[in-house]
This record gives sequence, structure tokens and C-alpha cells, in this order.
Amino acid sequence: MNSYAYYNGKFGKREDILIPLSDRSIFFGDSIYDAAIGSYDRIHWESEHVERFLSNAKRLGIKHTFTKNGLSDLLREIAVKSMLESYFLYFQLSRSTPNRVHSAVGASSSLLVTLDPIKIEKSPHPLRLITTEDLRYGYCDIKTVNLLPAVLSATKAEVKGCDEAIFVKNEIVTECTKSNISILIQGRIITHPKSNRILPGIAREHLLAECKSIGVEVIERPFTKEEMMEADEILITSTTKLCRRADMIDGVSVGGKSPALADSLCNLMYEDFANFCIK
Ligand code: PDD
Repeated sequence: MNSYAYYNGKFGKREDILIPLSDRSIFFGDSIYDAAIGSYDRIHWESEHVERFLSNAKRLGIKHTFTKNGLSDLLREIAVKSMLESYFLYFQLSRSTPNRVHSAVGASSSLLVTLDPIKIEKSPHPLRLITTEDLRYGYCDIKTVNLLPAVLSATKAEVKGCDEAIFVKNEIVTECTKSNISILIQGRIITHPKSNRILPGIAREHLLAECKSIGVEVIERPFTKEEMMEADEILITSTTKLCRRADMIDGVSVGGKSPALADSLCNLMYEDFANFCIK
């Protein structure tokens, strides 16, 4: 199956959908986005993804006419048209003005949606990570298309044969380029609190809920790189990874001291997705 796309009312194969130069995501990254996975007409954690998207649009004052139900219906309609059995769904709302002017006064908005085939694997290999300085700005909690530090760091990780890069700011671990990070120490989970330094990940929220459901204490506080390197386990969460263990950071073996708990949390997250697929 091929990739599929939508832009302001036009549906079609990804290569047939063109974006006009009036779309301010091109010149200014003036747009917000969200990303989910799904199967046929069902989108995993749909309500949370659509809510975060609309709340980000509101925070940046991007004008649009979507209701939560209206946008969910449209995303499902596009998914059905794509005929993809299982997909990665990306949706972006950008501001639009006729000319390249910095001020966004009077701007309207444009909706872009893309779908690509995806396979979510069970129990894949543990992740290998690198650390990198967090050079991002103060809006990390809003999913905007200003991803240059993430792009550079993800590239650096791949060149080194690794899966993800961990952002570290003044010795504090914030998150990764496209996922959140948590550590397990003595049966407790520690994760950076929600702030403008991290994206409030939906998978992170589900991991914390799973922890609470099995009696694992959740501590939302900043942790250092040193604590992470010594932690019993390191867990990476995101919409597409769900929950994965890491066993190497900067070429040093890490974690592996509480595999039963780490695996059961990863399995709970995977089972939730597997149940969603068979419903
Ligand atoms: N990335 N932190 C960052 C910086 C992210 O970009 C993402 C998601 C996450 C995890 O969020 P969630 O659990 O809601 O997926 C954390 C998506 C998948 C992306 O940009 O493609």
C-alpha cells in the first residue's frame, strides 16, 4: 500500500499533494502537528492526540473551525480512503498568509495530513542511545514544526548506529528527540515533570498510568545524567515505540538491573495496543 495525503480538502497519493508557498510552515515553521498510529478507521489514543493538537493550536492562536469531533471524523475519513491496514498518521495545522511577513495578524490556517504504512513490533531489541546537549527553545511542550535540534541530534544518533538521542540540559535529562525518557530506581519510576522543557507525551502518560495500576510509585522530578547512567532500567516511550528498554548510552552498558519490572511495563503498553488492534 502507498502513502496517502490530504491538504485543505484535497485527497490523494502523497506525491500528488502539493503545498503552496503561502503555507507559513515553510518559511517560519509556523505550525503545530501531532502524530498517531492507527488501523483502518481507528486511531490509537485518538481522543488524546486530537485534544493535544487543538489545545496547541489554541495556545498559539492559530485560527481554525475544527471541533474535536469534526477533526476526528475527518482524520478517520482520510484513514479509510488511504486503505492502509496499519499506519502512521501525521496531521499539521499551519498558519497561512499571502506573503512572507513575520507578523501573523490576519492569518488563516491550512490542514495537512499524511499516512504511511507502519508495523508495530512486539518485544523488539533494547534501544541504543546517545546523549546530546539540549539546545532547544522554551516551547518544547507545544508540538511545533521547529525541529532543527531534534533533526540534528537524531541524525547524529543514527550515524553512530543508535536509535535515539537523549537531550541533556545543565546535567538534567529532559527527553529524547522524538520520545520521552523515564528511569526505574528501586522499584520506582522517575520522569521529568511536565514543563516547557518536555513534550507531555501521550505514551508517557499511559506508562505512568500502568505504573500506578500495578503499584509502582511514580515520581515526577528532574533527574541527572549520572542518575540515568546508574539507574536500574531506562524506559523510552512514544506513540510509535510504545515503551522500550534501553541497554546502551554513549557506548556504555546501562540498565538491566530490574528486567522483570521493565519488561512487564513494556508488555502492558504493547498489550494495550494489541487489544486496540483486535477490537
Ligand atoms: N514524537 N518528545 C518529543 C520531543 C516528541 O517529538 C515525541 C513524539 C514524544 C512522545 O510523545 P507521544 O508519546 O505523544 O508520541 C516526546 C512524534 C512521534 C513525532 O514527532 O513523530
